[in-house]
Amino acid sequence: MKIMSNNENISFWQRFLKSMTKANELGREEDVMLDHDYDGIKELDNVLPPWWIWGFYITIAISIFYYVAIHILGWYGQEDEYQAELKAHEAKVAKYKADHPELFKTENLIAYADAANIEKGKELFTTKTCTACHLTDGGGSIGPNMTDDYWILGGGFQNVFNTITKGGRPGKGMVAWESTITQKERRQLASYILTLRGTTPASPKAPEGDLWEGVKEPVGSAVESVEEVANDLKDGVEKIVKEVEEEVKKDAKKVEKIAKEVKEVKKKIHK
Ligand code: HEC
Repeated sequence: MKIMSNNENISFWQRFLKSMTKANELGREEDVMLDHDYDGIKELDNVLPPWWIWGFYITIAISIFYYVAIHILGWYGQEDEYQAELKAHEAKVAKYKADHPELFKTENLIAYADAANIEKGKELFTTKTCTACHLTDGGGSIGPNMTDDYWILGGGFQNVFNTITKGGRPGKGMVAWESTITQKERRQLASYILTLRGTTPASPKAPEGDLWEGVKEPVGSAVESVEEVANDLKDGVEKIVKEVEEEVKKDAKKVEKIAKEVKEVKKKIHK
């Protein structure tokens, strides 16, 4: 589109650009030159371009809009957005748990039957200070005898696992180990404790609790919970990191050795 004005043949677009920049015509520099002279660098007295000023006003308007919308009217907020996202993810987790109950319910865990896990349980029984109250042979002192068929809090894997996890009756001294011993380790401990049945400790404490006849429980290590898998992965990664660190250390030593040799050779050359 061409618009004629002042006998000048300039387009609407060109006029628009001109009004947005208010730039002085080329060749008029002399008229608008300021008498500043910074080491030969001179300054023209141009006005701020209207497009820039408009941009500035628009950002001010936008900031006022957001201030009112977020802080006064509460239409929107990062906190709300975060909470909404959190809720959406929690719902997903809940759904996953509901869809895969076998992965999250400890009721599905059974005792380990393999020697390695039982051996680990035995080791944990000492390192986790269980022996302080139950004695190394499980004969009992502050805690009850765990070699007989009597159990205060119920025998069998599920009950024993649950006691270790949640603790005994309040005030009796058996605390909950849920937060300090991993699920896998609690499972190893419970599996080991069950193997003490029928052994003869040095000075067995008299039976406490009820006779546990129970049902014959399945054993084995087929069932793995998410928590166990996660722990195994973590252990694996930690092992790899350690190995890499060792390798790096070894390499660093080699480099040091070579550097020394180079120094010595240099010395010889200088002689
Ligand atoms: C501070 C002493 C103390 C320590 C340490 C301790 N226990 Fe106990 N434990 C007890 C007492 C006391 C009871 C009986 C709880 C009750 O009567 O409610 C008990 C009960 C138990 C029972 C159930 C016995 C039954 O008859 O029902 C198991 C299983 C058990 N402890 C395992 C462990 C394991 C595994 C550890 C180590 C991680 C441990 N305990 C550490 C004092 C202790």
